[in-house]
Amino acid sequence: MRQILSLTCALAAIGAFAATPIAINTDASSLILSVGDNGRVYQNYFGKRLLNSADYAALPQGTEAYLTHGMEDYFEPALHINHPDGNPSTELKYVSHETKQVSPGVVETSILLADPVYKDEVTLHYTAYQPENVIVAYTEITNKENKPIELEKYASSMLHFNNKNYYLTEFSGDWANEAHMTDQPLHYGKKEVDTKLGTRANMFVSPFFYLSLDAPATEENGEVLMGTLGWTGNFRFCFDVDNRGKLRVISGINPYYSRYSLAKGETFQTPEFIFTLSQDGKGQASRNLHDWARKYKVKDGEGDRMTLLNNWEATYFDFNEDKLVGLIGEAKELGVDMFLLDDGWFANKYPRHSDTQGLGDWDETSDKLPNGIGRLTAEAKKQGVKFGLWIEPEMVNPKSELYEKHKDWVITLPNRDEYYFRNQLVLDLANPQVQDYVYGVVDNLLTKYPDIAYFKWDCNSPITNIYSNHLKDKQSHLYIDYVRGLYSVLDRIKAKYPNVPMMMCAGGSGRTDYKGLEYFTEFWCSDNTDPVERLYIQYGFSHVFPSKTMSAHVTTWNKDASIKFRTNVAMMGKLGFDIKLDDLSGNDVAYAKQAIKNYNSLKPAILDGDLYRLVSPYDHNHAATQYSSKDGKQTVLFAFDIFPRYDEFLYNTKLQGLDPNATYAVAEIDRMDGQNQQIGQYTGEYLMNVGLPVFTRNKMDSRVYQIMKN
Ligand code: DGJ
Repeated sequence: MRQILSLTCALAAIGAFAATPIAINTDASSLILSVGDNGRVYQNYFGKRLLNSADYAALPQGTEAYLTHGMEDYFEPALHINHPDGNPSTELKYVSHETKQVSPGVVETSILLADPVYKDEVTLHYTAYQPENVIVAYTEITNKENKPIELEKYASSMLHFNNKNYYLTEFSGDWANEAHMTDQPLHYGKKEVDTKLGTRANMFVSPFFYLSLDAPATEENGEVLMGTLGWTGNFRFCFDVDNRGKLRVISGINPYYSRYSLAKGETFQTPEFIFTLSQDGKGQASRNLHDWARKYKVKDGEGDRMTLLNNWEATYFDFNEDKLVGLIGEAKELGVDMFLLDDGWFANKYPRHSDTQGLGDWDETSDKLPNGIGRLTAEAKKQGVKFGLWIEPEMVNPKSELYEKHKDWVITLPNRDEYYFRNQLVLDLANPQVQDYVYGVVDNLLTKYPDIAYFKWDCNSPITNIYSNHLKDKQSHLYIDYVRGLYSVLDRIKAKYPNVPMMMCAGGSGRTDYKGLEYFTEFWCSDNTDPVERLYIQYGFSHVFPSKTMSAHVTTWNKDASIKFRTNVAMMGKLGFDIKLDDLSGNDVAYAKQAIKNYNSLKPAILDGDLYRLVSPYDHNHAATQYSSKDGKQTVLFAFDIFPRYDEFLYNTKLQGLDPNATYAVAEIDRMDGQNQQIGQYTGEYLMNVGLPVFTRNKMDSRVYQIMKN
């Protein structure tokens, strides 16, 4: 329980409204709400921090903060309740609010509202992380009636804007083409960014966006909101521009096929909507989210990350004990921290020799691994590397013993042919027995093999054939209860094994959200490891997630790119290799070993520092990214030439965030020849205003610069 450092509390009964506005302030932004004469709560302001609180009272009354269905509003509501008597409307009036400082720089505000007729209660929660300029909002809805109520719509947050223009950037795509950024202006009407995939929920679109206000924001300029939902399931962001050009942004669980009934006295808690408003462009907004995430959200957010060698692309399903022992030796030779055994190690009746069978039967395949996982953890220990293991415990192949025994645990329609995505089905995590089983997969493995130091938790299918045996007449609860069931499993794992890092993977990046990252130290950005494609994919994810959460591996995808180019791209995330040393020449192996050492020494900047996206791959034939350690001493600059045109003009790249008065020593490091090349000494002012010529006209070429403050 967090310590309450100070508590201010404003309480007022219905009819005697809060005299002062309710201010949710970070160091750089203010969200000001107030209670109108009619007792409803309005959002009067959301923008740059208003330093003079006396100004709050002068703000004109804005739009109702959390609009409800069935009253006077004609646009998309945040809340829609069907009452037991058939009345579909709700009115919310202010009851009280409370502001608590929970720790230095963290202030929680909760506003209690109630329907004067039906008495149902809604509490709007806002936690302001002041130095990070991040606000986390969620809502609680409590049934105060004598019979169940039905929730049709139940947003986590509603925010209002009144600007000349709005520009939305979404991060959409497909498997192997994730987080592709597209921009669009918003005009009258509704734009929804949502998913209905259930489990591998983000396969087509990620649960985050940015919204530029008035004019398209650049990296360094413009007012921009970045928002993301912490929910590992169906989400929806609804952007609705009304007849007066005002925009409301509604964020939460996707209400699609998710009508939720709430028993008398029960409370529904929505997921968190996490947002930051920057006056200084997208770069600052990303840095805000990264700082907040490392400090408050991500599992072991301030801890180190392990480099690794994964066998997936090195062997796919075709391996045996000897091959794996060989690869563990290669992990040692490369100098990575861990060997990660991927899919294909389990099942006996239907051995997992391909993705067609075996999922659900978590015993080692005896002819592949006659001495079990224990032989491998022992070998890893001998070699001085950690051992990690792939699992996909939420899923089942119809060709498996689990399916034969427990078809009732499977999400599948009782009276129709089954439709399979990657030959598999999803287990019904709404069912507590299934939760126990899924928890047991991890618990049994760790009990039997305590030397397993890491899990890659995969999830390769969306929910298909949607029907839960367990939920009976509450089928529309499934999308939500599934995710809650998953969290209950992950809570138990985290409680018993708090120090086991895990990668959140879902057939590439089908799961990429901040609630998931409470349990997982990192996520898999994409199955597409072509470094050129990865420049774009990682660029997209970098808007919201810090690099230590973004797993990036060097593979044989795009062998036309040098090992250096492939490795340099992966070094901008959580570095791993998914390759056999046989696939590399002697020089390449020597380079890779050196790159791992360099990466380890650059971690304070790359993993825990400030990110500056200097040159976007979307705008140029080049890309450049800067990371600066928090103490300002170490900066690393990655420069990539993608497919430059013949004789194209090359421009200097200007750094950001340096001390203009300090001098910096610039060297090109991580070169193929193993030699660091001193470039020169420059002031921060020079590096930021004149910049450095870091690009060439070579195709798929890269350079890494270390810039040390003297
Ligand atoms: C999908 C993942 O994204 C891959 O990395 C790999 O683990 C396969 N699944 C294994 O089936």
